[in-house]
Amino acid sequence: MYEGVRVNSRHTLPIPFGWYGVAFTSELQAGEVKPLKYFDQDLVLFRTEDGVAHVLEAFCPHLGAHLGYGGVVKGDAIACPFHAWEFNGEGHVKNIPYAKQIPPKVAGFACTMVAAFWRACG
Ligand code: FES
Repeated sequence: MYEGVRVNSRHTLPIPFGWYGVAFTSELQAGEVKPLKYFDQDLVLFRTEDGVAHVLEAFCPHLGAHLGYGGVVKGDAIACPFHAWEFNGEGHVKNIPYAKQIPPKVAGFACTMVAAFWRACG
């Protein structure tokens, strides 16, 4: 019907592109992490120590841990509960604690930023 367009499992029509509120600012304190499910996707909402809120895809691009369960805010990043890779608010690898430098192969790894803007990807 809508080939290549993601649809919500509860509805047969695609989710319209646009901005959607996913939380009230008062619901998220600095350093807090919350799992979310919107747009038929698992997401993670977190507020950095300097107070900026971010939404990313929930699953770590390394080995797939859910960042919303056990993820920890460290400065301006969220650390994965499995191997502690840190992702900035744009979803890019910022630090790998046991590596002296981020290998070029994973430097481009990113949890796709979703923010509150929904755009279906084919
Ligand atoms: S699964 Fe996230 S750092 Fe390994």
